[in-house]
Amino acid sequence: MHSPSASSSTRPEVLVTGGAGYIGSHVCVELVNAGYRPVVVDNLSNSKREAVRRVARICELEPDFYELDLNDREGLTEVFKKHDFKAVMHFAGLKAVGESSQIPLKYYRENLGGTLTLCEVMAEFSQGNLIFSSSATVYGDPATVPIDERFPTSATNPYGRSKLIIEEILRDLAAAPKEHQNSAWNITLLRYFNPVGAHESGLIGEDPSGIPNNLLPYIAQVAIGKLERLSVFGDDYDTVDGTGVRDYIHVVDLAKGHVAALEALDSTGPGCRAYNLGTGQGYSVLQMVKAFEKASGRDIPYQIAPRRPGDIANCYANADLARQELGWEAQFGLERMMVDAWRWQSQNPDGY
Ligand code: NAD
Ligand code: WQD
Repeated sequence: MHSPSASSSTRPEVLVTGGAGYIGSHVCVELVNAGYRPVVVDNLSNSKREAVRRVARICELEPDFYELDLNDREGLTEVFKKHDFKAVMHFAGLKAVGESSQIPLKYYRENLGGTLTLCEVMAEFSQGNLIFSSSATVYGDPATVPIDERFPTSATNPYGRSKLIIEEILRDLAAAPKEHQNSAWNITLLRYFNPVGAHESGLIGEDPSGIPNNLLPYIAQVAIGKLERLSVFGDDYDTVDGTGVRDYIHVVDLAKGHVAALEALDSTGPGCRAYNLGTGQGYSVLQMVKAFEKASGRDIPYQIAPRRPGDIANCYANADLARQELGWEAQFGLERMMVDAWRWQSQNPDGY
């Protein structure tokens, strides 16, 4: 885990918005491993400063950290004045699907507003290299699986719509004539399937506030005894055992996909491209429960509950395009995802 030239000041700098969060913190580690210097901007609305310190414990380079809201244009401008970024990776935003239907304006303000401010400041500094956290949610309820990037897109909730609108804004930016802008936009949209697991050190991982919405952190909290039992949302879907099937991807694989996308920016011309980041393999809720029981040696009590509104039966990726064009594919299988998730949960029962 020691990175030999971690202290070198010649490393290209990459701005990581939301870099204290679950995915962003893992990306910081992989950026350092690949020879970059991450610079984090995060308002800590859904994360802890400690996550960035732990990145430093893993790879011996502490990312520069700015506690800043992306909507703070002046603050962001100061960050751009201090650094010379090779590219921007944009993770910052709100992500709770259910909550987004309760408070849609907040989701649009944070996700759209933050992205617009970021892009405006990037344009001011002639920075056009952007990698954006999109989501498989932009495929809505797909007609078939596996899902490839040419599938039609749609949204079923304000969170998903915010991702879809941002994708469209970024396509418009990339298509606009260069003579009207300071820089040519070179944009990669990464559509994540279901990120799970944690860094093998057990030092960083997913730290949801309150009761988790997502399956894996919920299962992990049942295993550790913080929650009594899992509710399995529906067992009458048209799937292998009736429970929902998803494409779970190890967060470290996902993070490496970002480094691959960053390196591909050098060889692609200006434009805007979308890639699925998934494994291509689907697992059901009950298969996930069994796999976690095996990895943790704990029982996961569960009960069958009604379907969760908005859920779909099957969702998994065709990940060929990322393999062909980014030279990336997921390496870790289900067992490793579970072992790493359990190490993080058992070493940090109360999170950071
Ligand atoms: P996260 O909540 O752990 O990380 C997001 C980070 O952004 C947090 O640290 C939060 O404090 C910060 N943030 C939020 N609003 C901000 C603002 N206005 N200014 C500055 N910082 C702000 O979430 P994550 O799971 O790491 O997700 C990262 C990105 O990936 C998000 O854009 C999310 O929508 C997207 N995504 C996540 C998943 C998933 O299942 N985790 C799947 C697909 C896409
Ligand atoms: C997975 C499966 C549930 C919890 C969400 C967002 C998506 C993306 C990833 C950001 C489903 C079942 C879950 C529980 C259960 N995020 N489940 N009991 O819904 O595939 O995707 O996170 O972009 O946009 O929608 O993930 O982990 O919530 O659910 O039975 O307590 O587990 O029904 O089949 P989902 P999830």
